[in-house]
Amino acid sequence: MIDLRSDTVTRPCDGMRKAMAQAEVGDDVFGEDPTVNSLQERLAEMFGAEAALFVPSGTMGNEICIKVHTQPGDEVVCESGCHILNYESGAAAFLSGVQMRSIQGTRGAITREQVETAIQPPLYFLPKTTVIAVENTHNSAGGTVFPIDVLADLHMLAQERGLKLHLDGARIWNASAATGIPLQDYVGYCDSISVCFSKGLGAPIGSAIAGTKEFVQEAHRLRKLFGGGMRQVGILASAVLYALENNLSRLPEDHANARLLAERLAELPGIEVDLDTVQTNIVIFDIAESGRTVSELLEALKDAGVLVVPFGPTRLRAVTHLDVSREDVEFAAGIFSKIVRGTH
Ligand SMILES: Cc1ncc(COP(=O)(O)O)c(C=O)c1O
Repeated sequence: MIDLRSDTVTRPCDGMRKAMAQAEVGDDVFGEDPTVNSLQERLAEMFGAEAALFVPSGTMGNEICIKVHTQPGDEVVCESGCHILNYESGAAAFLSGVQMRSIQGTRGAITREQVETAIQPPLYFLPKTTVIAVENTHNSAGGTVFPIDVLADLHMLAQERGLKLHLDGARIWNASAATGIPLQDYVGYCDSISVCFSKGLGAPIGSAIAGTKEFVQEAHRLRKLFGGGMRQVGILASAVLYALENNLSRLPEDHANARLLAERLAELPGIEVDLDTVQTNIVIFDIAESGRTVSELLEALKDAGVLVVPFGPTRLRAVTHLDVSREDVEFAAGIFSKIVRGTH
């Protein structure tokens, strides 16, 4: 089966499992796990941040950041397709008591002008805007990169208006690999970042957040409060260290594979792909004109050994990753072609 549903479906390779088995560990709730401590130091250095904190998931990372930055009743300005708003089970409302004010972006990016008009004036009967949240790369926009100059503008705006800028950087690795812009440049514009290791980097579990020492100190307290205190977590941190060492530099392969798939799909009758959005490892395509429904196509693809996910009433999403080779992508593109042309 060629599994293009998500970059989260990868399984740890033998080398990663060996690293996990050999990890030096201690009780991280006592701050005594040497492997997680060294990972956190390494991440802070990579991001050019004062400190970093390992957390179990990207969702917990985002939600801790929002909780640190807000008071109940506050408003968070975000892009309408973002993960925090759509795919975190309403956690920002539940855990932080905040509401989200969403703006329709362009390929996942929201501009200074758009955010400016969404910031509430300081009137007692209005919610207080305290956070701008952005996503890079933007998952539901098709893995698009948030332009760094627009991020710089938002940073300026946040500074001027006393707001916090949070970056959901679950796939910041892909953004940096695609643009060549160093991680520090993205992180430098933000008050907090959350990143994931369980996506393109291929670790089985784990995310991290980073910011100032003061921010991470409060985040550490909230991680415990949210039930995310972990014990001999060096087993997971060693998988992340392995992933940083071995899997980070190969992300351009995933991007090239996504591009290949997108170009092959774009040639098919009834399939529409906005090739400009295929900037990293995600391909979202519309099948409205193919004469097939989403569920018919999903079924036919599955029968032929290819898995993708539905992404709206007429759209599908395919994601390339560590466990998908160029040959796999060529095979999958061939299957798509046969199914759409009715020759399968
Ligand atoms: C952009 C983005 N942010 C956050 C997350 C949440 O990560 P997790 O599934 O580890 O909670 C995801 C997961 O797909 C994501 O795509």
